[in-house]
Amino acid sequence: MCGIVGYLGSNQAAPVLLSKLRVLEYRGYDSAGVAVIEAGRLNVIKAAGKLSNLETLLQSQRPQATVGIGHTRWATHGTPNDLNAHPHISANGTLAIVHNGIIENYADLRQELTDRGYVFVSDTDTEVVAHLLSREMDKGADLLGAILQVVKQIKGAYALGIVSQNQPDRIYAVNHHYSLTVGMGENESFLASDSTAVRQYTNKIIRLEQSEIAEITAHSVRLFDFAGKESTREPVSLESDPYKIDKSGFKHFLLKEIHEQPLVLRQTLSKYMTGAEDPINFNVEHFKPTGNGANDKMGLYGVRLTENEIKGIERIHIVACGTAYHAALIGKCIIEELCSLPVDVEIASEIRGRKLLVNERTLTVAVSQSGETADTLAAIKEAKKKGSYTLGITNRPDSHLAQITENLIVTECGIEVSVAATKTYVAQLACFYLLGIYLAEQRGAVSKAKLKELKGGLLQMPALIEQILGRAEDYRQESLKLADANDVVFIGRGFNFPTALEGALKLKELSYIHASGYAAGELKHGPIAVLDSTVPVITVLVPGKVYEKTLSNAQESRARQARMVAVAVDGDEKAPKTFEHIFRIPPVDEFFSPIPACVPMQLMSYYVADFLGKDVDQPRNLAKSVTVE
Ligand code: F6R
Repeated sequence: MCGIVGYLGSNQAAPVLLSKLRVLEYRGYDSAGVAVIEAGRLNVIKAAGKLSNLETLLQSQRPQATVGIGHTRWATHGTPNDLNAHPHISANGTLAIVHNGIIENYADLRQELTDRGYVFVSDTDTEVVAHLLSREMDKGADLLGAILQVVKQIKGAYALGIVSQNQPDRIYAVNHHYSLTVGMGENESFLASDSTAVRQYTNKIIRLEQSEIAEITAHSVRLFDFAGKESTREPVSLESDPYKIDKSGFKHFLLKEIHEQPLVLRQTLSKYMTGAEDPINFNVEHFKPTGNGANDKMGLYGVRLTENEIKGIERIHIVACGTAYHAALIGKCIIEELCSLPVDVEIASEIRGRKLLVNERTLTVAVSQSGETADTLAAIKEAKKKGSYTLGITNRPDSHLAQITENLIVTECGIEVSVAATKTYVAQLACFYLLGIYLAEQRGAVSKAKLKELKGGLLQMPALIEQILGRAEDYRQESLKLADANDVVFIGRGFNFPTALEGALKLKELSYIHASGYAAGELKHGPIAVLDSTVPVITVLVPGKVYEKTLSNAQESRARQARMVAVAVDGDEKAPKTFEHIFRIPPVDEFFSPIPACVPMQLMSYYVADFLGKDVDQPRNLAKSVTVE
């Protein structure tokens, strides 16, 4: 949430900052700005709205500078306007600051500073930090000294980038329970909240640790803890990324990412489950999901729990937010089914202020695409404190989550640019199937024959999604018939209740049409009251233990004249008797059905949103990485 960038070197800073901000725009797009040192003077250029507004200003003003910082904002304190856009300038006018996170005690500090005559021009918590730095410098501290004083006064989790016209050969970065990466090139240095924005320029990076300050010049990085003690750390190399950050001919990143799902599944499955000799460097191009590997013992590299530890686990607790929470709910169904272990799933933000009942016989799993979601991080840290084993499932092996969990499974998706999660959701589901099978194997919970069948089934998923994507045009035509709705209800049972929740979330975040997901059996306990002939009810209906009951629940909606829509398998002859619109998917076992069933819904949400002219890749009010609690 919010993106910080910085540059020092011999090139023009503004174009570099802009290109890095473009990579980070998914983190927030309420406003953007840069501060550069031009002819020895601080020059701040910023604009409300999308990055393109800043780009226009930079093109007309063309600041000549080789050092600067930049920011793309997701508003927390103060409406998204020019004044609240970052960077913010200190009272003495010599330094500028960009900030991610929240200064929790900013109101008290602002009052104190106002009482002493400091004038605030914005409503942000950030400006407090700028003025505090200024106050310390007025007392005689240099910038590093001022930072060391100010970190003692501010509370909360935050990351800062600071540039001063008095020390134009350096920028400072401060990381406190956030993420910041310094990139080291040839006589130039970079700063970014996310290593993806550095990767364009260099693969040599230093990740700042918690409560750490970096003094960055074009040639060096000095690191200090909050007590001022200096330490050294060698840069590490970033691994290469097989995914290109472009739309590859698709109209939107979202559509491209939906179409990348077979590749993503192959990447993830081939990493953890294959007969290949070198599973990590497995050649995805040649990966044939036809049951290869079904006989092999899986290697969940990154899961370090021993067989005995796995056997000793009595309960699994999963924490996550948003789409990752929906994946976790399906994870519960998978693990309970295969391992007969009780699994609880909680929305990570709901754990705050409550008793967390985990212990050393619990495995707590945190699922987070970004690995930076503040609520999820807080929950897993709390579980770790209580002695629980921890496991992270993330798309970002360089994230905060990856650093703090002892066990890790990485979804191999490459960067997901579109703010709405699609390919990472499907990859999270794949990870839960892998985890469930792995735990069952280690605990001896299912027979060898069953394990083989499960692995074979999972390996069919990429090809199944390919078939579904081949039907995209049919889905588009069906979807547009729903674009006039004001309210949409999604229902499903068992493994596909979370599919219904995810379908509703995708539709509302992309199209802004109000949508709710319900357990199909719950409809009659209240939500059915909202149904009439204007409301589409979208039922996830796949053959299996709950097929008949789900169909009955759909019929209850039909009796209320609702517009009947289903995701149903080919050959389901009962479906046309109940539903007017059917999104057909190839036949699939109920157990694996959440993977294919979500795809028509993703496409439906995309087509409706695009038809309505919505900003598909950057829906209003959202940010990709939610780093505030
Ligand atoms: C919805 C979406 C969000 C995220 C949620 C958690 O499309 O992307 O609901 O799933 O903000 O984010 P991560 O997975 O990064 O923890």
